[in-house]
Amino acid sequence: METYVTRRERFSSAHRLYRKDWSNEKNYEVFGPCSNPQWHGHNYELYVTVKGEVDQQTGFVINIKELSNLIKEYVVNKLDHKNMNTEVDFMNGKLASTENLVIAIWDELEQPIRSLGIELYRVKISETENNFVEYYGK
Ligand code: NI
Repeated sequence: METYVTRRERFSSAHRLYRKDWSNEKNYEVFGPCSNPQWHGHNYELYVTVKGEVDQQTGFVINIKELSNLIKEYVVNKLDHKNMNTEVDFMNGKLASTENLVIAIWDELEQPIRSLGIELYRVKISETENNFVEYYGK
């Protein structure tokens, strides 16, 4: 039977939402405090959902520790206590919005998760406790 398993990981990153071709005033108008030229940080929560068949021997879709290690290796260790705009290869040249982040994380995880014999189903991130962004790979 196909079931869905979600692992939560947390990381803290600095970022700035801005466009170089806009003035600081225009950036503030569109991006608010997230456009602060001196950076700022968020405590992000990342939810990675995979889907797969339940293994009859283990009763698991996946060993959740293995999934956690994979997410840390490909995503969390690169973001945690880093500046997302300047230090994270997969965000290089991208506007550091949660939408762009969730898509970039999907692209990082899709193949490694497939190599475990299961499928990535959803990546979800909350930047604050009130906002979530989800991506299903389409
Ligand atoms: Ni922000």
